[in-house]
Amino acid sequence: MLIKLDHTATLNIQEVRHQLHLGKQLVLIKNFPLDDLYLENFILKLGKPVLEARNIKGKSVFDVEVSKHNDFFKSIANSNLDFPLHTDCSDFHPIPNSIAMLCVEPAHKKQGISHFALLATILDTLSDAEKKELVQKQWTFRNKQRPILLQENNTYKICYDRITIESFSEVSPKDLELLNKLDTLFIASSFSMLLEKGDLILFRNDLMLHGRGGFDIDTKRLLKRVRFQID
Ligand SMILES: [Fe+2]
Repeated sequence: MLIKLDHTATLNIQEVRHQLHLGKQLVLIKNFPLDDLYLENFILKLGKPVLEARNIKGKSVFDVEVSKHNDFFKSIANSNLDFPLHTDCSDFHPIPNSIAMLCVEPAHKKQGISHFALLATILDTLSDAEKKELVQKQWTFRNKQRPILLQENNTYKICYDRITIESFSEVSPKDLELLNKLDTLFIASSFSMLLEKGDLILFRNDLMLHGRGGFDIDTKRLLKRVRFQID
């Protein structure tokens, strides 16, 4: 589930790239420098970063921290709320296939725990009929219609963000029941970890779901996020 590397030791970038290509594990790099430019340059060695519209310098780093505008959280990422297991950018085309998150400041009292669910583990719990249903049924992700499970050349990819589905479309009671069932199944397939200062995690957005637990509103939790595409 997790491969642990250390930035202060000799870091093998080819190994990081290889693990991301396989997409079967989460890559954790300890003691990563807390520097936006260093992070951006590191990601450039792995793939093509997605420029972040909310980065004031037009770069790829986004600050995941509590931030409000007119008393409203700017996004769920900018709140202190629980964020259930999901795919990032479920309404993008293309959906970036990789994500990096650097922990600059963890939440206090062991809150804001990170959750992950590998698609490979999820698939093991699904019957062939359930997989078929998830491949065939189209859902509305804002203005994009796509299935939760994408099948390409005998491999699967996942796209799931219940908040986006429910925010932009009418969901029938039957579909609601299916989403509830999926959430339960994803949680049962998940593992959790508490990020420490200087932890950089890298994972596949199309082969793993991620989420986080809530935390106190006054905490200074700060993660630096870069979405990117590996070939
Ligand atoms: Fe996310």
